[in-house]
Amino acid sequence: MTQYAEKVITAQPMPNKILLGPGPSMAHPRVLQAMMQSMIGYLDPDFIEVLDEISGHLKNVYKTNQSTLAIPGTGSAGMEAGLSSLLEPGDKVIMCIYGFFCERMVEMGERIGANVIPIRAEWGAPFPEELLEEEIKKHSDVKLVTAIHGETSTGIAQPLEGISKIAKQHDALFMVDAVTTFSGRNIEIDNWNIDYAYSASQKCLGAPPGLSPAVVSDRALETIRNRKTKPVSWYLDLELLCKYWGEERVYHHTAPVSMLYGINEALRIVMEEGLETRFERHRINAEALNAGLQAIGLNAVAPQGSRLEQITPVWIPDGVDDMEVRDMLLNEFSIELGRGLGDFSGKVWRVGLMGESSKQEYVLTFLSAIESILSRVGYEVAQGAAVAEATKIYNTYPGKKKS
Ligand SMILES: Cc1ncc(COP(=O)(O)O)c(C=O)c1O
Repeated sequence: MTQYAEKVITAQPMPNKILLGPGPSMAHPRVLQAMMQSMIGYLDPDFIEVLDEISGHLKNVYKTNQSTLAIPGTGSAGMEAGLSSLLEPGDKVIMCIYGFFCERMVEMGERIGANVIPIRAEWGAPFPEELLEEEIKKHSDVKLVTAIHGETSTGIAQPLEGISKIAKQHDALFMVDAVTTFSGRNIEIDNWNIDYAYSASQKCLGAPPGLSPAVVSDRALETIRNRKTKPVSWYLDLELLCKYWGEERVYHHTAPVSMLYGINEALRIVMEEGLETRFERHRINAEALNAGLQAIGLNAVAPQGSRLEQITPVWIPDGVDDMEVRDMLLNEFSIELGRGLGDFSGKVWRVGLMGESSKQEYVLTFLSAIESILSRVGYEVAQGAAVAEATKIYNTYPGKKKS
């Protein structure tokens, strides 16, 4: 019998790791426990109650009164559902591009046959709204504008209200990727006039990957209903998905029951903690992490004031081998650290502090481990400096929730 087969049959537990990459982040034990509940039919009244509860929590976190649902699939499914439902071949979409995941949207839009107009700006800085203003004026028929709230590849927190305003002035729909920020940073769907947003269960929510919690505005649904052609994807057709999640409860697909138990528990945990407290926990841990990293010369890619709390990409010092350090962290300390993507491949490390992974104990453990490793791979660090600086930050927040 192969080692793998043995593992499956005896269900040996996977080793515990400290997940400080771009996701999945640590799953809350209550979420994993919830996923072990009995199987149930996807139209069973008891299960419908679970769906209703999830919808309600999503409305609270997204700050919306519009339709909420959890799309089967990861964050990319949420992205594809939005683009393929809102766009028909030839439709104009302006995409604000400032990182790796923005480029993924371009790829998807082109595959759908939309008329994609990418506005490319510098990676590692917030997208300048003026570029959108200049471009959108040149067209009379832009159907959709897209942006990413937290560009995970660069660590940029993108302000959305200005972009939304410009889109609305030109009568375009506005779609937002909230994969990295949902439940870790404030997002206000209705106040900010967002027509469609999606996230992923494995980031700040602290559940396993496999669901994309999303929100669709009435206006977006109306646009989908009025399409001349059917969306290219049947499975990711937002109108059909919303009919299962809405009052009609029309069968669409076999709902991933256990995943939905899991996300429901994750959302309960979010509401128990409270959104503001949760956002603040993410802020404090990110501030301590940044202070620690800076103390040993690991500089953040994103400028202060535009940094995401959820993920911190830092430049890898000259002469230090990316893989060697990440391997040492994993093998010696069981800590997963994220690698750079696209243009930043081999140039940055990405430290993720999302949901259950955003804890003081992990920040201090990581800083201590990276200090030790860097000094052993020939990069001189003042031992203890990172932990000392991070501790100073923590001491300025007595009585605040950090774990
Ligand atoms: C901003 C952003 N959008 C989209 C995705 C894709 O999500 P997934 O990997 O869950 O499909 C990611 C993944 O990290 C992301 O960070």
